[in-house]
Amino acid sequence: MTRDAKDFTPALGKAWLTPLYDLAIALLTRESTWRRALARQINPVPGDNILDVGCGTGSLALMLKDQQPGAIITGLDPDPEVLARAARKADGLGLDINLVAGFLEEKTFPKGTRFTKVTSSLVLHQVPVAEKERILRLARGLLAPGGLLHVADYGLQRTALMRTGFRIVQSLDGYENTTPNARGILPGLMNKAGFSNIEEMLVVATPTGSISLYRAARD
Ligand SMILES: C[S@@+](CC[C@H](N)C(=O)[O-])C[C@H]1O[C@@H](n2cnc3c(N)ncnc32)[C@H](O)[C@@H]1O
Repeated sequence: MTRDAKDFTPALGKAWLTPLYDLAIALLTRESTWRRALARQINPVPGDNILDVGCGTGSLALMLKDQQPGAIITGLDPDPEVLARAARKADGLGLDINLVAGFLEEKTFPKGTRFTKVTSSLVLHQVPVAEKERILRLARGLLAPGGLLHVADYGLQRTALMRTGFRIVQSLDGYENTTPNARGILPGLMNKAGFSNIEEMLVVATPTGSISLYRAARD
């Protein structure tokens, strides 16, 4: 089935807000705390081949490349506008990352491609449950045996304060796709996709709800 290239929720919910994405994330998500923790958790080493699904403006992919020049980093996103921003940021920083336009599909990478690590940040909360499942299943299929999945996203919202903050995200990205995350759906979906040793490594309270860092393994 061919997918409509425009069939995605833009980075900040509406396409006209995309130019504000990096600023909004910095101000509203305690970005430096969770993103640095995620990069530490991923811990790129020389020879790593890392895929960032829904890389947006490339903030995580570039952080990983800066942290470990000996790792190959590939960012994938269906939105050409955020990819153009990622490419400009990469040029400005003099960092060489691969940027791939499109959804994650069986045919996105040549048969036999294997990544040592797959990561995704702030993507799964804004896609339908079937798409969350599809991304996780394909991510597992692209991982080499022993490879790790690292996800940072809005997870179980444990307190009234966090649930209230998360409404800001829900008002932008819609309630249908975001509510399952707030109810803590992600670890179960990772299990369903065939991952093992699924752990919530860190929960970061932010003004827009809590962001959980998860790690899961492909046996
Ligand atoms: C909130 S942004 C997060 C961007 C980046 N990962 C970050 O941490 O800043 C969500 C991104 O997911 C992308 N996206 C939306 N639907 C997607 C899908 N079905 N598969 C992959 N990426 C998707 C959007 O284009 C957007 O760039």
